[in-house]
Amino acid sequence: MQFTPSNMTWLNLPNMPAPIKTLFAGYLLVVGVGLMMAGLQIMMTHGMADGKVGLSKNDIVYSYYGDRTHSLLENKLNGSMKANAPDEVRADIIKWVRKGAPKEDWDAHFKAVFVKHCVACHSAIPNIPNFNHFEEVQKVAATSDGASFQSLTRVSHIHLFGISFIFFFISFIFSFAVGVPRKLKIIAIAFPFGFLILDILSWWLTKLSPSFAYLTIIGGIGYSLASTFMWVTSMYQMFIMSRTGKIYGNTWEQDL
Ligand code: HEC
Repeated sequence: MQFTPSNMTWLNLPNMPAPIKTLFAGYLLVVGVGLMMAGLQIMMTHGMADGKVGLSKNDIVYSYYGDRTHSLLENKLNGSMKANAPDEVRADIIKWVRKGAPKEDWDAHFKAVFVKHCVACHSAIPNIPNFNHFEEVQKVAATSDGASFQSLTRVSHIHLFGISFIFFFISFIFSFAVGVPRKLKIIAIAFPFGFLILDILSWWLTKLSPSFAYLTIIGGIGYSLASTFMWVTSMYQMFIMSRTGKIYGNTWEQDL
């Protein structure tokens, strides 16, 4: 039986056989585009959670912890609906909303207030809530608790399984890099996994307390940097460093 040569001098990124380089590069390219799309998607969903473009600590707090003090109704009464009711009336409504907008007060008092100040538009103009109906008021008076535990468990396990696969292959390819100090190699390979755990953990912690939102940002930046470093190094070694024609030897053996 024919075995591979004992020295395996081709076992490094610059000297890999072309079919394997094609496999590695194809994977890295697709995953690279995928990660950029993921970044874009985060910017467009979570990034807009606080109503401003760009990802900030507030976006993460809104997404996971929620906005437990401000309802849409309160925000609008202090914003684009401000001119539609005198200050006392707005303050009165906001106080009621903060109490949880109980139905008794609606029947006794607020139904009339809304009829007087709001219903002229909010029953006539299509596509805005009809404030003749308490249910529609209730909807805009609700505060947000952020992500539900149900959605957190679902997204957590999908992320952990899915992303660890991506990191496994990026790290695996990078493990064939030459000339990277052994310690740096180990750190670069371990980092994405560590930061992934930190990232997922931070969602749960942010759900409990908004002060943990920074961990989400640190986790995300951490694994982006580590995987970008491995991605760039691998591509560089396979396609640019390889042009010298030099034989680099068995990297795995050198890392022993
Ligand atoms: C002059 C017409 C008019 C009056 C009066 C008016 N609204 Fe509005 N309201 C609108 C329009 C138009 C929109 C949609 C545009 C926007 O969100 O600013 C809207 C949107 C809202 C929204 C957001 C609904 C959503 O689903 O996005 C809330 C909440 C709201 N109004 C509350 C009130 C309250 C409370 C009052 C009475 C104090 C009131 N409005 C009086 C015209 C009016």
